[in-house]
Amino acid sequence: MQVILRQLGDCNIRRAEPTDLIPIMEINLKTLPEHYSDYFYESLLAEIPEAFIVAEIAGQNIGYIMCKTEYGFSNFKKLGFVKKGHVVSIAVLEEYRKKGIGQALVEESVNGIKLKKCDEFYLEVRCSNNDAVRLYEKLGFAIRQKLNTYYRDGEDAYLMAIELT
Ligand code: ACO
Ligand code: ZN
Repeated sequence: MQVILRQLGDCNIRRAEPTDLIPIMEINLKTLPEHYSDYFYESLLAEIPEAFIVAEIAGQNIGYIMCKTEYGFSNFKKLGFVKKGHVVSIAVLEEYRKKGIGQALVEESVNGIKLKKCDEFYLEVRCSNNDAVRLYEKLGFAIRQKLNTYYRDGEDAYLMAIELT
């Protein structure tokens, strides 16, 4: 059953379904240098469909966000061990950017991660990726750490996180 979460003009923001995975992999290939196996996409959808969300216009996928959950040390509290949501990947096709779709995907994934009772939500982003860093900051994520040579090509990442209440 399709769960439509919100509409932005002609764009539906809804939970992903198994038939969305191939189009999502195609968007990922076009937009980001980090790719994943088919099995990984399937397992994320099986584990937290609440935070695996697509943007669709006229039946075509144009963006996605996918997340996982994990237990680990807090990005905020000293000595805290917490349940964390983790944005694995988000992208919107270039021609559909700057219309609020990225923001809607992040906001809906925050809602999904809250349903999974996570204490915090975090992600890594290239230090040079100003568009993404600005979007996350606008939505309340803060840079908590710099991860040196995090990416295969040697670039550093910011670890950005938000506390969920
Ligand atoms: N008119 C004009 N501008 C608008 C409108 C509008 N109607 N709606 C939103 N905007 C502006 C926003 O204010 C924002 O501006 P700002 O950057 O100056 O603050 C800007 O458009 C972007 O916001 P959104 O539209 O919500 O985001 P978008 O749909 O463009 O997606 C994303 C952002 C996902 C980062 C996109 O740039 C992308 O796919 N990039 C390539 C892939 C990528 O880098 N992904 C992130 C990697 S990190 C990770 O995956 C954890
Ligand atoms: Zn990550």
